[in-house]
Order: sequence, then C-alpha cells, then structure tokens
Amino acid sequence: MAATRIYVPRETSAVSVGADEVALQIAREAKRTKTSIRLVRNGSWGATWLEPLVEVEVDGARIAYGNVAPADVAGLFSADFVSGGDHPRRLGPIDEIPYLINQDRWTFWRCGLIEPLSLDDFLRHQGFRALEKAFAEGSEAVVDAVVESGLRGRGGAGFPTGIKWRTVSETAGEQKYIACNADEGDSGTFSDRMLMEGDPLGLIESMAIAGFAVGASKGYIYLRSEYPLTLSILSRALDVARDGGWLGTDIQGSGFDFDIELHLGAGSYVCGEETAMLESLEGKKGIVRYKPPLPAHEGLFGKPTVVNNVVTLASVANILNHGGERYASMGMNRSKGTLAFQLAGNVKRGGLVEKAFGVSLRELIDDWGGGTASGRPVKAVQVGGPLGAYLTAGQLDIKLDYEAFVEIGAMIGHGGIVVFDDTANMAQQARFAMEFCAIESCGKCTPCRIGSTRGVEVIDRIIAGENREENYDLLVELCDTMEAASLCAMGGMTPYPVRSVLKNFAEDFASSGDDR
Ligand SMILES: Cc1cc2nc3c(=O)[nH]c(=O)nc-3n(C[C@H](O)[C@H](O)[C@H](O)COP(=O)(O)O)c2cc1C
Ligand code: SF4
Repeated sequence: MAATRIYVPRETSAVSVGADEVALQIAREAKRTKTSIRLVRNGSWGATWLEPLVEVEVDGARIAYGNVAPADVAGLFSADFVSGGDHPRRLGPIDEIPYLINQDRWTFWRCGLIEPLSLDDFLRHQGFRALEKAFAEGSEAVVDAVVESGLRGRGGAGFPTGIKWRTVSETAGEQKYIACNADEGDSGTFSDRMLMEGDPLGLIESMAIAGFAVGASKGYIYLRSEYPLTLSILSRALDVARDGGWLGTDIQGSGFDFDIELHLGAGSYVCGEETAMLESLEGKKGIVRYKPPLPAHEGLFGKPTVVNNVVTLASVANILNHGGERYASMGMNRSKGTLAFQLAGNVKRGGLVEKAFGVSLRELIDDWGGGTASGRPVKAVQVGGPLGAYLTAGQLDIKLDYEAFVEIGAMIGHGGIVVFDDTANMAQQARFAMEFCAIESCGKCTPCRIGSTRGVEVIDRIIAGENREENYDLLVELCDTMEAASLCAMGGMTPYPVRSVLKNFAEDFASSGDDR
C-alpha cells in the first residue's frame, strides 16, 4: 500500500507555534504504530490562526486538522486520522474551508498546495510554463502583457510594473539587473516571506521572466536578515532550479542566460527603500540616493535595473499563463488584480487573504479576521506599515483602492493591516511613528534626521500637558516640513500616522503619558 502523504508546513509562522515538533511527533508515532506515511513539509496556506495546520491525503482529497499540538498526535493516530478519521481538531477538506476558498488566489495559489523544494511537484503545478511561454512569444510580448495587466508595485509606491519594465528594456546597456526587494520591513506584513517559503520556485521563475523581458542576465534577491528559515528555503530552491537547468547559462536551450544571487540585509528598515537597497547590495552603507537618475536608467552598479517587490514579481507568471486582460478584469478603477492583505495585530483570525482590490477593510477584518482577538470594539486600523495613517472605525467601509486611500491621506502600501481595539492609546502610537523614524532614518536629509527626534520631544511635551496648543501647532508645522522637504518617503510619510492621530484621536493626547 502506498504511504499516506501527511503535510506539515515548514513556514515561519507555523514553525513558531510548534510545526517542527508536530512533524517530529507524527514521524515517531507512525514508526511506533508501523503506519506507512510520507511526511511533506509544505508552505502555509496563509490561515496562520489555524497553524500548525496538518493535512492528510485521503483518496486524493486533503483533510485538514487545525492547531495541532505535539500532544495531540497520539490521539490523532488513535482516531485514525491517517484515513481522515474524526477528531476535535478535524476541519474537513482543505478545499472547503471558507477562509481559503472565498479568496482570489492568483499569486499565492501554490502556497500550501505544493512541496516547495520539489521541482517535480512545481512542474506538475504549471511550474516554468510561463517562462517557456515567454521564450516562445518573445520579450516584447511579455512586457506588453504586464502593461496590459495593470499590475502595480506591491512594495509600497504602487508604480505600474509594465512601465518600469519597458523603461529598462528600452534603456541601452550590456549589463542589466533584476533586483528583488525582499526586505519586507513594514509592521504586520509577511506576504513576501510566505511566498518565498511556500513557492520559492515561483519567484525564481518570475524573476527569470523579468530578466528575459528586459534583457537582464543577473538577478539579486535582497532578503531581510530576520528571515533565517526563508534564507535556507530560498538558497535550496536556487540550487534546485540550477540543478534542473532553469537557472544558469542557456536555460532549457533557449539561449537565455540568467542567474540569481541571494543577498542578506542587516536589519535596517530604510534598506527597503529601493536606492538604499541598491547601495547595500553594492556593499555600501544603506543610504538613500538622490533621484534622478532612476534605477531603471542607472541602478545597481550604475546599470539599468528593475527593482520590484517579491509579490509584484511573483504575480507575473500567472499573468503570462492567463493573460494580462484576465488580471486586469479583477479589482477596481486603476487598482487592478489582487493584493495579498495581511491581517495582524488585535484580530481573531490573523493571516494572509489574497483578494481582488475593491474589498473593504470591514469585510477583511470582520469576515476573514473575525473581529478583534480581545472581543472589544475596533478603535483604529493602520494600513500600509509604519508610515500608514491610522484609520477610524468609521472609515472601514472604504474600498481598498490605491487612489481612494490617497484621497483620505492613507495608503495601501504592502497590504499590511494592523488592528487596534479601544484600549489602544493613539497618542503613544503617534509618538511611536516619530520615534521609529528617528531610529531608522538613514540620516541623509535634515527634515527626517533632526525632525523626527524633535517630533518625539514635541509629542512628549503635548502628552505632558506643557503649552499644549503651542506644541500642537509646532507639531503640525514640523509635519509640514518633513512632508515637503524630506528626500524619501521615510521622512516624507512619517507625518501620515502622526497627522491621522491629531485629526482622529486628539483626545488621547490629553489622557496619555502614564502607559508609555
Ligand atoms: C522607507 C522605505 C522602506 C521601504 N521598504 C520596502 C520593502 O521592505 N520592500 C519593498 O518591496 N519595498 C519597499 N519600499 C518601496 C521601494 O522603495 C520600492 O518602491 C519598491 O521596492 C519597488 O518595487 P514595486 O514597484 O514592485 O513595489 C520602501 C520604501 C521606503 C521609502
Ligand atoms: S527622508 Fe530620512 S531616510 Fe529618507 S533620505 Fe532623508 S534621512 Fe534618509
């Protein structure tokens, strides 16, 4: 009889709640009970609130068991879970779980489904088909499809990806580069990591497509140092791709050469800013560059460079597989396709939800997230990382659309959604925004370097009740200066969360101070 396949994620969020111990326990129990199993370490489906999420393959269906602890394993075997047996942890078939099936999985569709480091499994699930299609149709057709899709950068700024690729492809240069931004420093975000751990070959394929499209033979992945498991998975995936002839010289006899180097960051938030990242990749201090020149013209080592976020790049393979038009048919207005929203903070069912633009925060927080973890009312929601505005409970029905968010002084950024209940002190959050900027500022320009430190002091004075009105005006003026005169969005957008607190939660300044 064939061994039963049992899936236990090897993915950071699952491992952090005991997935490795669960896998070990399953292997031990199978040995003890002489049950023939094959343990597959897959990625996460993104329902982190159910981790460790174990699946058993029975007659082609995958039966899920949620929140499995090592102590549950013996009981699961006794309940014959190897045949899909009943047990309090049993959730039923994975493809019937509402949290997953009600999503629009375009970029993350293979995450959880496949064995990330198996080339065979990847190939069985459409792996490298898009790259072959690119070879068959030519580089211009690839750029056209990406333009047609309306895909915009998922790293933060939402710049149209196709336009960026066209610029690099039309810029003359013997050597060009693809630089994948995997620095993922925004609070409450983990989609890059989940993709790289669950479908690393998918990212590699999309980077090769990008290289082919613009004429680049070399790619870099700039990975944040706080992701050690990702580093190990990605390094092995690069070897798997090379061994299979999908990276290196003359890929699959196409005449196209492309290889990828993995570079580890050193824990600086601002190194996620594209020009600071390029400096860091060149082995220098991660300090922001003046623009122009744009990286598309003079990027890494002065050569034309595509800088894209992990999720942006990983979305491309399916755009080629299904066509740019199909991607553009999802979403609303100029926000096309899907975004991997990441639910974090005070939320009951945290995790990754890939949905077409146009979904509301309320749907995400209530329908997927199940409301706050504390059961208390939502007070504020920060979308788009530490530079994002704090929205009020009254703003939750606004549809997620880049432009609609800009209109209310907010941003979608990388899709991180951090929920706060009514016990949160928003004056402290405003202080945190300034303090974060003071700590992470690269120091190149004065409004950010000095302004953020002064900003913390002014907020402290407001909280302490010192000349409150005068200091309040000073803070607004300081925000104006930072916004207008900072060199990059670090100093330029730190005022967003601060202003949103001044506007929406001003009463917290009066009642703050003690709980810092
Ligand atoms: C302070 C700061 C930090 C940033 N951090 C990241 C990051 O961690 N990951 C990322 O992809 N983009 C980050 N960005 C945005 C990048 O500068 C750049 O816009 C992005 O990598 C371009 O890729 P995309 O067009 O695919 O989004 C950051 C920007 C700023 C100003
Ligand atoms: S705004 Fe801040 S992070 Fe950006 S260049 Fe100026 S000092 Fe550096």
